[in-house]
Amino acid sequence: MFPDAVKNLHPLPRHVAVIMDGNGRWAQSQGRQRHFGHRAGVRSARALVEAAAEQQIQVLTLFAFSSENWKRPATEVDGLMRLFVEVLQREVDALHENGIQLRFIGARDTLPTILRKRMADAEARTAGNTRMTLVLAVAYGGHWDIVEAVRRVAAKVKSGHIEPGDIDEQLIQRHTALAGLPAPDLLIRTGGEKRISNFLLWDLAYTEFYFTPTLWPEFDTGRFREALEHYRSRQRRFGGVVPVREAVAGD
Ligand code: FPP
Repeated sequence: MFPDAVKNLHPLPRHVAVIMDGNGRWAQSQGRQRHFGHRAGVRSARALVEAAAEQQIQVLTLFAFSSENWKRPATEVDGLMRLFVEVLQREVDALHENGIQLRFIGARDTLPTILRKRMADAEARTAGNTRMTLVLAVAYGGHWDIVEAVRRVAAKVKSGHIEPGDIDEQLIQRHTALAGLPAPDLLIRTGGEKRISNFLLWDLAYTEFYFTPTLWPEFDTGRFREALEHYRSRQRRFGGVVPVREAVAGD
């Protein structure tokens, strides 16, 4: 028999969301330019995707570029856009062969045409895959997401498809960028900051947060396992008093 401490562990999260922070500081600590850190960050992301799929995580959402990241120097932004194009070109085959579905969230119309094309191709190619959904947030902001949802709902009211009284939480959720996916159970933020930086504001209402000082390029599978163990040891009550299991409460 398992001791109580083990019996009471929660199942693994269905949906893990990650704010990958610390590439720039890691590069600096190596005496290199920030872009060197972003390239190392891609290797960490790749390893995490593999580890998450092995752990049977259903959805992995990575914050790759925020709506605020446009404020960075043009050379860094340009380097990141090129890096995203390169990564998609290089990795989509492997993702597809491993049964991973790719989905992008964010203000696509603000992105370079070539990147938008690669994103659309990758989504179309992997649309039928069911092992894990990898959501990449690019030019994404939580405020943007809510504004978009409100616009779409308002358009439906205007066209007479729904009445204002029909608007409830489920309806709003169905119009957000993560529509159709379970809300994140666990949010990991690397790099030492303890804030959510305009990530998934609607979706993180009951998410467990895990903050680690580890810089993103050093966040390896061992660190990921630690984050999962931490999650599993927590009690999730969703505003009630009795611990609830994710399978019921996460919906
Ligand atoms: C955070 O570090 C990193 C970013 C905002 C850039 C994007 C992330 C990657 C290149 C890794 C994964 C990529 C893909 C395509 C999945 P920072 O620059 O904010 O670091 P700092 O806080 O130390 O300055």
